[in-house]
Amino acid sequence: MPHLIAPSLLSANFLNLGKDIEMVNRSQADWFHLDVMDGVFVPNISFGLPVIERIKKAALKPFDVHLMIIDPDRYIERFRKTGADIISVHAEACSHLHRSVYLIKSTGALAGVVLNPHSPVSLLADIICDADMVLLMSVNPGFGGQKFIENTYQKVRDLKELILKKNSKATIEIDGGVDLANAPLLVKEGAGILVAGNTIFSSPDPEEMISRLKNF
Ligand code: DX5
Ligand code: ZN
Repeated sequence: MPHLIAPSLLSANFLNLGKDIEMVNRSQADWFHLDVMDGVFVPNISFGLPVIERIKKAALKPFDVHLMIIDPDRYIERFRKTGADIISVHAEACSHLHRSVYLIKSTGALAGVVLNPHSPVSLLADIICDADMVLLMSVNPGFGGQKFIENTYQKVRDLKELILKKNSKATIEIDGGVDLANAPLLVKEGAGILVAGNTIFSSPDPEEMISRLKNF
């Protein structure tokens, strides 16, 4: 299956979000990636439910909601109601990750589990068969436009191995510093979904950049 591209709206133009949403709609992108930050789990605050609800009215592709918030169980049903199709929670932010994953599934959304760069893949050994997706952070979460952490390649290999060993159906998503230089190797190692913010939205032709990230 060809890999998917999920543009992160964190790097879009918030003064004219409608224009960037339309660009993603007509592009070869597969999903919208929406980064929700609480200023506690990560040192930044982005946007929340009311903004996502409005974006949903204009967007024509699935919503991949990345929750960078403490104790996300409190908000999962509401994010689902605003139109989230995939909801991902950080292993580091959940005291009862298994419960969080099943709460997401109970809403009908796909459940993603996110690992920060310092968290080993082995942490997921007993949840990998329950997760629909694993999101590996390839930067420390909180900001767009950061440098890709090279150790991610090894983590993709470790994760792929764990998925095969446990006979899991989880897909692998990579988020942070993804560009044309690292994307082909990430896909070769087993990544199925690539998030990209800065690479797409700071490009002179974002639609063309999406197509280049999709077709290599
Ligand atoms: C970072 C976010 C990312 C971010 C990626 O905390 O999770 O989704 O928007 O942006 P780039 O591609 O610019 O690193
Ligand atoms: Zn993200």
